[in-house]
Amino acid sequence: MEHPRIIQGGMGVGVSDWRLARAVALEGEMGVVSGTALDILLTRRLQQGDPGGHMRRGLAAFPDQEVAQRILARYYREEGTPDFHRFENPPMITVEPSREVEELLVAANFVEVYLAKEGHSGAVGVNFLEKIQLPNPAAIYGVMLAGVDYVLMGAGIPLEIPGLLDAYARGEAGSITLALEGAEKGETLLRHFDPARVLSSPPAQLKRPAFLSIVSSNVLAQTMVSRASGKVDGIIVEDHTAGGHNAPPRGPLHLTDQGEPVYGPKDQVDTLRMTKMDVPFWMAGSCSDENSLERSEKAGAWGIQVGTLFAFCRESGFLPELKKKFLQAVEAGKMRVFTHPGASPTGYPIKMALMEGTIAEEALFAQRKRVCNLGLLRHLYKKEDGVIGYRCPAESPELFIRKGGDPETPQDARCLCNALMAAVGAAMEYAGGYLEKPLLVPGEYLDSLRVLIRKIGLDYTAADVIRFLDSSRGEETCSS
Ligand SMILES: Cc1cc2nc3c(=O)[nH]c(=O)nc-3n(C[C@H](O)[C@H](O)[C@H](O)COP(=O)(O)O)c2cc1C
Repeated sequence: MEHPRIIQGGMGVGVSDWRLARAVALEGEMGVVSGTALDILLTRRLQQGDPGGHMRRGLAAFPDQEVAQRILARYYREEGTPDFHRFENPPMITVEPSREVEELLVAANFVEVYLAKEGHSGAVGVNFLEKIQLPNPAAIYGVMLAGVDYVLMGAGIPLEIPGLLDAYARGEAGSITLALEGAEKGETLLRHFDPARVLSSPPAQLKRPAFLSIVSSNVLAQTMVSRASGKVDGIIVEDHTAGGHNAPPRGPLHLTDQGEPVYGPKDQVDTLRMTKMDVPFWMAGSCSDENSLERSEKAGAWGIQVGTLFAFCRESGFLPELKKKFLQAVEAGKMRVFTHPGASPTGYPIKMALMEGTIAEEALFAQRKRVCNLGLLRHLYKKEDGVIGYRCPAESPELFIRKGGDPETPQDARCLCNALMAAVGAAMEYAGGYLEKPLLVPGEYLDSLRVLIRKIGLDYTAADVIRFLDSSRGEETCSS
């Protein structure tokens, strides 16, 4: 299969939205939409009046119009504007969600991929996180219904997903096993999805997208290829300098004086070993110089996956004022990206741009009332009476600890659900007037971004990024 050499990495929530993915795919490279929280984003875009009518156009193409109409009736506000923020939230996803929740998940994921693929035949992928399990079965069905070409997945070990893609491709229902804290040995909790619950006449077959697994070690690459429930078509090797979440360092956690995790030689992936696996692979994390593509190809890789450069281009979902502020600081050499070991409820280290007005600022973080109202990063646990409970380290620490959560965990945990929504213009405003603050999670390698903006300026496009990555051959090295 002739895969694209450059992958625009999936960036949630809503940073790599359909516009960015489409712009990249139109240039002949792989555009990847973030599949995280698309259900919530769709409801918010509709409540904000759906400027341009894109969400409604996507819904009009959904194969079951009764489902589409129910969603519009509940969430679309004709009078809405982009500065509306008093959103009605859809019900949180649980182990056994209502039909309404599943309809919204399938339709929202369909819409994003449908729009990214509209009017061209370029490659469009979608990125999901293994850590956010509950929505995945319905969401993956939705993207396949829209004909997605690639499913990319990291943040965990998604062994069951390739087989799930196979089941859906055969027109069958599918299940995944959920992580359950406090489960008995041998006890499994399944999340089952049956297309017939959402569609009046589900297609008998669907195209099986290629599956790319995002890993941070040779062992994990090997595990995915040898033990997954279906074919792994490629591997993305992501370095700890990459934007978003990072794998924790191997071995015991040591922190620098500033409090960042210390990574060492054990965290380096051996590309020679990768080449022996006979599976195409892409390098990610600081592979965004003008010669990174050539360097990665020389190391035996198929190409590169790039995030940060695309995250701040014109077509990305970040609010324009946040892009500008960030890029001005990068240009001036004043932007610092911090790898926080405890800010994410997932337990994985996460990158944070230390930027004013975001919840990277301790004072703003402390001002926020710790409520959990979107719930994507909740952990499932088994209560003493056997009932399944839900807890998030970013909710009120008292509540988290009362639910049996580890008292050490919650101190620094930020509500990423709300902060990442805020960064793309979908911040929630509460009755008292409090508006959720954003968070930016770029990669730590900013040199290539500085070169790019020196060449093009602060308002550059996805096509500029691709020309930059695929043009002249310079001296800098890709961090791999
Ligand atoms: C703002 C931002 C959000 C990201 N979100 C995700 C995500 O939701 N899922 C994921 O697998 N990777 C995510 N990433 C990682 C990218 O897909 C990509 O692998 C990474 O950014 C590559 O490193 P670079 O930033 O040095 O180019 C994110 C990166 C950025 C910059």
